[in-house]
Amino acid sequence: MLGNFTYCNPTKLYFGKDALQNLPAELAKYGKKVVLVYGSGSIKKNGIYDAVTKILAEAGKDVAEIAGVMSNPTIHKLREGIAIARKHGADFILAVGGGSVIDYSKALSVSVNCDEDPWEKYFVRFEEPTCETIPVGTVLTMVGTGSEMNAGAVITYPEKKLKMGKVFADEKIMPRFSILNPVYTMTLPKYQMVAGIYDIFNHICEQYFSGTDDNTSDYLAEGLMRNVVEASRTAVKNPQDYEARSNLMWDATWALNTLIAKGKSTDWMVHMLGQAAGGVTNATHGMTLAAVSLPYYRFILKDGLPKFVRFAKVVWDVRPEGKTDEEIAKEGLEKMEDWMQQLGLVLHLKDLGATEDMLDDLVNGTLILTGGYRVLTKEEIREIFRRAM
Ligand code: NZQ
Ligand code: ZN
Repeated sequence: MLGNFTYCNPTKLYFGKDALQNLPAELAKYGKKVVLVYGSGSIKKNGIYDAVTKILAEAGKDVAEIAGVMSNPTIHKLREGIAIARKHGADFILAVGGGSVIDYSKALSVSVNCDEDPWEKYFVRFEEPTCETIPVGTVLTMVGTGSEMNAGAVITYPEKKLKMGKVFADEKIMPRFSILNPVYTMTLPKYQMVAGIYDIFNHICEQYFSGTDDNTSDYLAEGLMRNVVEASRTAVKNPQDYEARSNLMWDATWALNTLIAKGKSTDWMVHMLGQAAGGVTNATHGMTLAAVSLPYYRFILKDGLPKFVRFAKVVWDVRPEGKTDEEIAKEGLEKMEDWMQQLGLVLHLKDLGATEDMLDDLVNGTLILTGGYRVLTKEEIREIFRRAM
């Protein structure tokens, strides 16, 4: 039975090759002082920076820049940005980049007018903002996180070896608009493209692998998963295939814009394990998920057996004749592993720089959640990390 829920997603999306044409009208809704946030320079190489700054200039905006937002953005970079945005008197934040730049911009939005330390307030105590927030808009350049249409932000504290996520309750923190042009994603290196593809797939799994009821969200999830697999196979062969890249972009947005979580308890343990690995190694988000997923799913397979059987049949077309449920479920995960290998995903934490002597930090950096098929103990988490090595 569907649980009770409220659904509200106010992010306005502009999708397609001409989507940037809508930026002037959106900018006109906000004040003159704009903070432009971007990453380590890809937008300067592929022309997106020039296109966006031209529009900002034509709109008469007074722009301050926060450049160099790194993958897995740090609390130190956030503090630096808070000072820039305060000095500028920011009315609006325009994020141009992937999940890191967009997450960072949301964290900035809730911190500029706030006296408290953002790490402690949002990423340790997981509180909501108590100050006025600054509206954020985005131009997306990397597909995977869904940050373009959700209220999540993930920040890393390198010295503490912690990477923590906060999903804000107030939909005001979601981007006011997001510009999604699939062509922008075509300059992504293959490593980032496939990491993003696995991020999409795992977001769907995290919501799907919970509950035992008949639930609309699961059918939506299965459709999305089938398309991610199909489109990814095309995109890996031909990264310039617009149909595949646009489908992946749209899949990513729907995978984590809260829709398919409705009526579900949701699991999210792969992300907790992956984030702990990211905190220790600073590896690419999607690759950390790829490395811990199969060990985790194989570990909980018996606890969620009916759903793993359904996953095998519906998503991976496993034929059930003459097989036990456990055999069907295992075959589904084998097919998933084959697909992950074909994409070129990293399947072992040691290939991301993790070593056995990091096990304590990995275990201590993992938040234990309770929405999935099994609530893990610390010892079980250690065992899963060992198997993921
Ligand atoms: O720094 P730049 O120059 O932008 O280069 C980036 C970066 O090196 C590059 N890139 C992005 N667009 C490009 C491009 N290179 C060439 N052409 C383009 N068009 O790709 C690299 C990765 O970018 P990044 O933004 O770090 O990747 P992603 O979108 O995967 O974001 C990862 C962050 O998002 C968090 C992750 O934990 C991680 O910190 N997540 C956020 C979520 C959310 N808000 O809901 C959920 C996710 O599960 C995830 O945790
Ligand atoms: Zn993710």
